Amino acid sequence: SLLEETSLPLYFGWFLLSSVQVKVGCTAMDFLKTLDTLEAFKKHIADFTGQAEKEVDLEQYFETKETLHCTTKFCNYGKADGAKEYAKNPVVKKSYGSVFSLSLTALFVTPRTVGARVSLTEEQLQLWPADTEKESEVGIPGSASLPVGSRAHITLGCAAGVEPVQTGLDLLQILILPEGEAVEEMELGSLRYYGEGRWMLSLREPICAAACFSSFYG
Ligand code: A2P
Repeated sequence: SLLEETSLPLYFGWFLLSSVQVKVGCTAMDFLKTLDTLEAFKKHIADFTGQAEKEVDLEQYFETKETLHCTTKFCNYGKADGAKEYAKNPVVKKSYGSVFSLSLTALFVTPRTVGARVSLTEEQLQLWPADTEKESEVGIPGSASLPVGSRAHITLGCAAGVEPVQTGLDLLQILILPEGEAVEEMELGSLRYYGEGRWMLSLREPICAAACFSSFYG
């Protein structure tokens, strides 16, 4: 019925508790602030500006997001493939409203997005749709062979005109590449460059983020 169809959310996901949102947001800001001052980053500045020598303020470059979350299933109010099946999954129903502890293991930046990589536990993977990584195979060849859950991330910010769906695609694109060269040891961990403006900082100590499994209607 129409009612059933419209009762599905825009997406399901883990929503960071508000104190944790502040902590993660601040860590991301500090990272961006430091990144754009590094010589290694300035060397590749044209990836962001289209011009060598031009400066960029990454804090201004990205429009940061307010409700930080890790999407598990984008349902588009029931229009997305597998949305109904996902909403009916007993594990989804049982977990709805529960708080989980997410492990943020890396921060990444591209000319389009900035995000945090989330490394899911076995328990958390039960809420992760098995075909997520396969869906991106057409656009990102090789992504289907990445481990299930590879796309899990939190969008922290997008460049002007970029949709948040891009963040997960940017992460997958980095993950199919051979590990980039470690260009800098930062306080938070080692920074690697993957070409074409793609940077990833593997966190020395993962950030533990409490998050409620729920859904967003908009
Ligand atoms: P992400 O999970 O990377 O942040 P929007 O505001 O564009 O409708 O998106 C709402 C949320 O759903 C965002 O969190 C976004 O990306 C995610 N999202 C949007 N479209 C898709 C899609 N096609 N596949 C997976 N996630 C999506």
